[in-house]
Amino acid sequence: MRKNIVAGNWKMNKTLEESQALTKDLLAKVPANTNTNVIIAPTFPNLYPVQEMIKDSNISLAAQNAHFEESGAFTGEVSVEMLQSVGIETVIIGHSERRSIFGESHDLLAQKSSKVVKAGLQLMFCFGEVLEDRKAGKHFDVVKSQLEESVFQLTADDFKQVVLAYEPVWAIGTGETASPEQAQEMHAFIRDLLKDKYGEDTAENTSILYGGSVKPNNAKEIFSKPDVDGGLIGGASLKADDFVSIVTAF
Ligand code: PGA
Repeated sequence: MRKNIVAGNWKMNKTLEESQALTKDLLAKVPANTNTNVIIAPTFPNLYPVQEMIKDSNISLAAQNAHFEESGAFTGEVSVEMLQSVGIETVIIGHSERRSIFGESHDLLAQKSSKVVKAGLQLMFCFGEVLEDRKAGKHFDVVKSQLEESVFQLTADDFKQVVLAYEPVWAIGTGETASPEQAQEMHAFIRDLLKDKYGEDTAENTSILYGGSVKPNNAKEIFSKPDVDGGLIGGASLKADDFVSIVTAF
């Protein structure tokens, strides 16, 4: 059975003090009995202090990025081993902001993906089309090639550690959401690709999250779709009440 997951991508937001305050609020408000896997992704300097706060809770931590080398002369980068040493369980790779602002290529994302799963961590792999692709009716082709050129290079065994996050770029931070039907249509397409590539079991057991302007007022409808197994939440993850109402929207 695949897991329901709600992950908060804090992006480049929150100082140490603010991260601790938000975490404290989440610890008080995320229901202890939730069946949803709750993940938060603070910035690098705040991962360890937040980890110290959440270690005995049902919230776990993701890093927003990682390098594929273990150590060395890579100024400004952070390795998977370093993240693991401070208790990180998940690494987000391939976010559209990493692709568009920092120029991360399919090859680089394939290397990073491989590194994360080989280290035994959960990989949350993001992808999605831009508006021009959708307008041109190319969104299925674009998503297929994004997967094939990177995360589909993992072996079936490694793929057990993968969570996919479909994030149409035109819906990220814009207030514009894919309709629940558009999300379902794409998620079903992705699950079919998984079936062709890795077989029925992997297809059924891989969580596919939707991301892009998920808010308390639209989460329930999006999550009600059979192939949507949760969300990757940006803006609405920065306020405890909004994030918790999305966590409890299943
Ligand atoms: P958003 O961001 O919820 O603010 O649209 C989603 C994301 O970038 O993961």
